[in-house]
Amino acid sequence: EKGTYPHYMLKEIDEQPYVIRKIIQEYTDSTHRLKIDEKISKAIQQADRIYIIAAGTSYHAGLVGKQLIEKLAEVPVEVHIASEFSYNMPLLSENPFFIFISQSGETADSRAVLVQTKALGYPALTITNVPGSTLSREADYTLLLHAGPEIAVASTKAYSAQIAVIAILANDLAEQKGCNISFDLDHEMSLVANAIEMLASQKEEIESIAASIFHKSRNAFFIGRGIDYFVMQEAALKLKEISYIQAEGFAGGELKHGTIALIEEGTPVIALATQENVNLSVRGNVQEVAARGANTCIVSMKGLNKSGDAIVLPEVHELLTPLVSVIPMQLLAYYAALHRNCDVDKPRNLAKSVTVE
Ligand code: F6R
Repeated sequence: EKGTYPHYMLKEIDEQPYVIRKIIQEYTDSTHRLKIDEKISKAIQQADRIYIIAAGTSYHAGLVGKQLIEKLAEVPVEVHIASEFSYNMPLLSENPFFIFISQSGETADSRAVLVQTKALGYPALTITNVPGSTLSREADYTLLLHAGPEIAVASTKAYSAQIAVIAILANDLAEQKGCNISFDLDHEMSLVANAIEMLASQKEEIESIAASIFHKSRNAFFIGRGIDYFVMQEAALKLKEISYIQAEGFAGGELKHGTIALIEEGTPVIALATQENVNLSVRGNVQEVAARGANTCIVSMKGLNKSGDAIVLPEVHELLTPLVSVIPMQLLAYYAALHRNCDVDKPRNLAKSVTVE
C-alpha cells in the first residue's frame, strides 16, 4: 500500500536506503562478511567472459554492473540489450557466463535469450526481484533483489537493488580470485544508504529545480562521462517514460560530434560529475552548451563541486556513486511529471512487465 504517499513511485524512491540496508543484511554470512552463494561464485570463476542481458532500466543497471565487475573482479563483461542479442548474437568467448537482470523475471525479450543460451549449454544466473519468476526458474542460479514489490511502472528501487547486488557479486568474485582490492563494501554500502537518505530529504529543492528547468520544455539532455554517462541514460529514460519529455542520455564528449546542433535557447542540459578524472571535461561540455543558450544544471559529488552547482551529492566510494546520483534524477523525473499532470505511476503505453517479444 502506498499509505500517505501520493504515488507509489515516490514511496519506492524513498524506500531505497531501506532496500540497500536489507540487501546488506540478506547477503551477510555467518562470519559477518558480504557473500554470495559459493556455488555461484565458483561457476562464474570458470568463465572467461560475462554477458549481461537485460532491457530498459535493468539494462542500465547492467552497464554500471559491468564497471563494478571489471574494476573489482577483473573479468571482461559485455552488456547487451536482450531484444538485440536474441536476433543478432555476437561471437561469444570460449567459456561464457550469462547474467540476466530483470526486476520482474518475466521479460520475454530476456527469456528468449535465456532459451537460446541454455540450448547452447551455457550457465546462467538471474538477478531478479521475484522469486519463482520464469527467468529465475529457468536459469541455473538466482540472486534475489529483496527490494519488495515494485508497483510504479517506472523502475526506481529495483535499479538500485540490482546495482547493489552486482556490487556484492563483484566484490565476492574479486575476493575469490585474490584480486587486490582495498574496499570495505559493507561499510561503503552503509555510507550509500545514509547518503540516499540525505538526498531524499531535499525533495523541495529538487522539486523547484525540476519546475524551473523542465517548465514547458519539449526535450532535455542528460550528460556525463564514464559511469555518470550510464546513470544519465537511466535519468533520460525516467524522464521520458513518465513526463513524455523527449530526453537523451549522452556522453559529454560526443555532443560536439553532431547532437550539439539541437541545443537552442532554453534547452535543458543536466550534467553529472561524480568522478575526479572527468570532472573538468564534463564541466567543459556544460560551458559549450551554455554558450549556445542551454539551461544547464550541474549535479556533482562533494569534493568535486564548484559554486553554482545545483545539487551536491554526499561523498561515497567512486564505484558506488550511481546508487546516490540516480536519486535526484528519479526525483527530477517525478516532479517534472507531476507538474505536467501526468499519471506518474501508470504512464501511457507502458506495462509493468513486458511479456511479449
Ligand atoms: C523503466 C522500466 C523498464 C524495465 C524493462 C525491463 O522504468 O521499468 O524499462 O526496466 O521493461 O523489465 P525487467 O527488469 O522486469 O526485466
